[in-house]
Amino acid sequence: MKVLVVDAGGRGNAIAHAFSKSDRVKEIYVAPGNGGSEFFEKCRLAEFNGAKIPSIRAVDTIVKFAKMMDIDLAYIGPEEPLSLGIVDRLEEEGIPAIGPKKEATILESSKCWAKDFLRKIGVPIPRYANFDDPEEAKEYIKENFQDGIVVKADGLAAGKGVYVCESVDEAFRAVDEIMVQKKFGDAGNRVVVEERLKGIEVAFTALSDGKTVKPFGHAKDYKRAFDKDDLEGLRDFYIGLTRKFYTKAQIEQLFREGKLINPNTGGMGAVSPHPDVGPEIEKKILDMVAEPIVRKFRELEGIEFKGVLYPVIMLVEEGGELVPKVLEINVRDCDPGTEAKMPRLESDIAEISMAIIEGELENTDIKFSSDYCVAVCAVSGALKGREGLKPGYPADHYTSQPISGIEVAMKEATIYANGIAKNDGGYVTTGGRVLTVVGKGESIETARGRAYSALSRISFPGMRYRKTIGLDVEE
Ligand code: AMP
Ligand code: GLY
Repeated sequence: MKVLVVDAGGRGNAIAHAFSKSDRVKEIYVAPGNGGSEFFEKCRLAEFNGAKIPSIRAVDTIVKFAKMMDIDLAYIGPEEPLSLGIVDRLEEEGIPAIGPKKEATILESSKCWAKDFLRKIGVPIPRYANFDDPEEAKEYIKENFQDGIVVKADGLAAGKGVYVCESVDEAFRAVDEIMVQKKFGDAGNRVVVEERLKGIEVAFTALSDGKTVKPFGHAKDYKRAFDKDDLEGLRDFYIGLTRKFYTKAQIEQLFREGKLINPNTGGMGAVSPHPDVGPEIEKKILDMVAEPIVRKFRELEGIEFKGVLYPVIMLVEEGGELVPKVLEINVRDCDPGTEAKMPRLESDIAEISMAIIEGELENTDIKFSSDYCVAVCAVSGALKGREGLKPGYPADHYTSQPISGIEVAMKEATIYANGIAKNDGGYVTTGGRVLTVVGKGESIETARGRAYSALSRISFPGMRYRKTIGLDVEE
């Protein structure tokens, strides 16, 4: 069997790695992939007409490549090609694909639509309202909140369209950035304004063939850019961002006063399984959230959902019970949650995928090992270069930095590349997230030890990572 994985980052490389363990799979192509896609046996970068696939948006070229290579199965990682209709296009060409069709991606591509749908079908959600007028949004904020307000751009904003605000003023600024300054373009024509929930956040994933819905592992995602006590890191970041000098004492004071935001990122690391989620809670999330979403989507909207469903859950304590409330729905897997769970997958992903294509998921087991995996992301941090000091991920950062130690680290842990390229002398950085190092063990401590030990072998100018991945820290 020949498999095509569409993704540019670490998630795709983790999916390709899982396929490489299947005896049914002979070759795996990753499109566009990156400099780390060939770390695993049978995995190759896709090439069309002698050139690499330019991006995850190059749907035409990817479909042509799949036809030319007689691909038996495509597995789509990110939301962008899904919302561009890549699954529809592949299926038109007779190539089975894992992922929802374009019309089903509305669950992720419109947060306003998704919240209304969840309310209609009775899935627990935060108190919210949708707006297409900034003044009305502000009126609602003023009347309903003092603090703890979340403002979200309706459309896809590369994970940056969510503002978790401490005050009404901050929420007003968020409304202005999204709706007036149009920071995310048309994705900000509408906003969701909702209450901030406090609880345990879970990256929960499920697989569906349109009828059956089964759990597909879960992870705790660490999203803040810096550890809470990393004032040195925050200082470099803010000096780079504002181009003003701060002493350590000034930074400490600003932090104490709550004036320094520890930025949210796409993810700085993950641990799988989620340490607070046992079989009972997993079943609760499946029964109260994932299963009704897929069933009601089909029954009420006439839309089939096939692929990975990833609702972001906040477990909130109500009346002595943990209630899973949905913050948002994604129609693809989590990154870096995928990197943390795939090494634990014991079932054959090729068999699971074929069961989804054939509508046979009901009769297929999805098994993960009881081991823990801790995935730590090394990112492009603050660095002084030709263009002065840049703050680093998730803001502006330098790329093309030489990376050393990957080969040595690989002997100790699994390395998934998020943003690297191969050049004559070795590997260089190409993005904000660079590498995800995954340690596995019977306990979180063992897994953590392995991940951090392997990570200590790797270095590149500006490299930054969090030291608390896997620990029970407040995010
Ligand atoms: P989303 O893209 O909606 O998942 O939001 C990104 C992140 O913002 C989530 O992973 C949460 O950490 C946080 N977030 C979003 N909505 C809420 C909410 N209602 N309450 C608390 N945190 C939230
Ligand atoms: N780590 C968050 C996401 O994949 O959306």
